[in-house]
Amino acid sequence: MKITVLTAFPEFFRSFLETSIVGKAVERGLLEVSVVDLRGYGEGDYRRIDDYSFGGNGGMVLMAEPLTKALEDLNDPSYVVYPSPQGVTLTQEIVESISTKDHLVIVCGHYEGVDERFVGSKVDMELSIGDYVLTGGELPAMVVIDSVSRLIPGVVGKGRAVVEDSFYRGMLDNPHFTRPAEWRDMKVPPVLLSGNDKEIELWRRRESVSRTLTRRPDLMARASLRDYLEKGYYV
Ligand code: ADE
Repeated sequence: MKITVLTAFPEFFRSFLETSIVGKAVERGLLEVSVVDLRGYGEGDYRRIDDYSFGGNGGMVLMAEPLTKALEDLNDPSYVVYPSPQGVTLTQEIVESISTKDHLVIVCGHYEGVDERFVGSKVDMELSIGDYVLTGGELPAMVVIDSVSRLIPGVVGKGRAVVEDSFYRGMLDNPHFTRPAEWRDMKVPPVLLSGNDKEIELWRRRESVSRTLTRRPDLMARASLRDYLEKGYYV
């Protein structure tokens, strides 16, 4: 999968793209990420990429032309995502759907945002990572890259870790424990030490359902329970 990031602050991405799981995915060629400096498409001697908001509060807005030139220079059909608080809220379902695109372009706004004519004519999906306001689209872009990259086959070691994680089937993950089996008088649930795979699976599913019910009941309505019921986990 190929991802191109258009940003006025490419330095944000350097260590992110070299670190941990995303870094390994890039190193192994499972994920190709290019970071394009928007200043290279700026206008005039000062390579201007933003200007004052018309009729606005004096805030700066990224201009449509430098963004469009950067996009046109890619010369490749792509799916364009623009992170903004006005967008549709990112969910695991959306992550899954955008992870199927061959080439994803993420346009990072800054200051007050991006000229709406660019958004209206060039952007396929405006995406929010939550109901709060950040200073720019770089952190949301990293959230998108991180969440998408772990779905690329081979990026996360054990296939199981991905499919059993939170939001698979729309439910929260079960709790996890590691050694020692007893820590400061607190014991690991005995079933996890039993070696009984069926019982362990049953425990994990029950924990997942009960956590979802208590912590995020809103998710329950949409969760896929068919598999649970078919396997008799709740009888
Ligand atoms: N840019 C600024 N705030 C944002 C948010 N909450 N989500 C996505 N992009 C943003």
